[in-house]
Amino acid sequence: MSKVAVRLVLNGDDRAVFVDPGQNLLDVLRRELGDLTPKYGCGQGTCGACTVTVDGEVRLACLTLAEAVDGCRVDTAAGLADGAELHVLQEAFMEHFAAQCGYCTTGMLMSAATLLRDKPSPSRDEVVEAISGNICRCTGYEPIIDAILAAARGSTTGSGRR
Ligand code: FES
Ligand code: FES
Repeated sequence: MSKVAVRLVLNGDDRAVFVDPGQNLLDVLRRELGDLTPKYGCGQGTCGACTVTVDGEVRLACLTLAEAVDGCRVDTAAGLADGAELHVLQEAFMEHFAAQCGYCTTGMLMSAATLLRDKPSPSRDEVVEAISGNICRCTGYEPIIDAILAAARGSTTGSGRR
């Protein structure tokens, strides 16, 4: 089966890759492009561990055809920090102990970052809704919700970006 050329902008960098027809974006990000921040959880669209954004919209990379992102901007949690300067959400997650095993965290961060971009001062219910597709087996969700609300208030220490 012949490979398909895909060009994308990954976290601001122009990238090109040959993919198999039908190969999903999660597989391509991790295996071909070396971005291990999107995680493989269920592979069926139910856990949110693979959450990324495509042209600014939240997408589950395990259910997204790699071919479909040709010409698109793809952002992952790898692009949140600015060098050594953490994103305000990353700081807030640390401050609020919102990550334990961390497996869900990168997906949570992408859902939360998209929420705060679109709605800088969300209500608690809006935060709950925004992360409703992201399953966490460890934290009980409350520290995560608190962290996102704190980031929205800008009440974490440091000067992280949004
Ligand atoms: S790995 Fe994509 S939703 Fe679970
Ligand atoms: S911190 Fe372990 S699954 Fe969320």
